[in-house]
Amino acid sequence: MKHLLKIADLSENEIIDILNLADQLKYEKKHGIPHQYLLGKTLGMIFQKASTRTRISFEVGMGELGGNAIVLSASDLQMGRGEPIKDTARVLSRYLDGIMIRTYAQKDLEDLVTYGSIPIINGLTDYAHPCQVLADLMTIREYKGSFKGLKVCFIGDGYNMANSLAYGCVKLGIKFVLAAPKQYQIKDDIVNELKSYGELFTMTEDVFAAAKNADVLITDVWASMGQEEESKNRRDIFKGYQINDDVLSVAKKDAIVQHCLPAHREEEITNKVFEEHADEIFDEAENRIHAQKAVLVKLLGKID
Ligand code: CP
Ligand code: NVA
Repeated sequence: MKHLLKIADLSENEIIDILNLADQLKYEKKHGIPHQYLLGKTLGMIFQKASTRTRISFEVGMGELGGNAIVLSASDLQMGRGEPIKDTARVLSRYLDGIMIRTYAQKDLEDLVTYGSIPIINGLTDYAHPCQVLADLMTIREYKGSFKGLKVCFIGDGYNMANSLAYGCVKLGIKFVLAAPKQYQIKDDIVNELKSYGELFTMTEDVFAAAKNADVLITDVWASMGQEEESKNRRDIFKGYQINDDVLSVAKKDAIVQHCLPAHREEEITNKVFEEHADEIFDEAENRIHAQKAVLVKLLGKID
């Protein structure tokens, strides 16, 4: 593993290795055991969209590993004035040990890989959010003990989070079901790849069929960053694609609820369900730091 561009690129073993290291790093942090595996290393973080969790968890995580992180707002870089990614990649490769980028197009990451010579980490694109999914899988394993026989139900937009979680689940043998309005289901090219995992991947417009006997209910905002203009329309279209008491009542009794955050209460999730499952949701948010530290150690620390 040289980069983390999308979950689809990882094998089952690579995902499990990251999760195991994340568990170890979480243990070391909680027990005050020093783990400065990235002493002297510097991560550059480029943001073309807002962030709370990604920015802070990467910055703090690098510090805990003995390294540094530099936040680079795209609008402050010459990139924001048109300097090509291929030049930015070659310059930053001479200063930094790795780049984490949050942007729109997945192609930007591919260009950074092509023209740069340091590890590239996807901190969210319109296509994928692999760091979030690693934290989600880590949290699911903490609560459920193992991945064996699990059913994960994602209710909402078949966009970056759903795409990435679908790959993460099917690669680990977890059944993944998406409930979304027809026009917001996962795109055909991705579905065609996911279909090779047989019955592990399905999509439906029926929220209750999807949630039935689920071990994990998970959702994301109806309108992602960059889709704000359409958000009023989406509120009509997505009405009913919500995690609420009725939906929860058809899932398994011990089902957990996950949300990548930020949450829009009373849209994709009711305030009641959110608050009743807040521990699970904020454990998931906490696990961003542990999962990302594992990715950083693997990529910047050259530990296989
Ligand atoms: N879930 C997530 O990526 O949060 P931020 O947008 O705050 O980074
Ligand atoms: N789908 C959301 C995820 C935010 C973490 C977005 O892209 O805005």
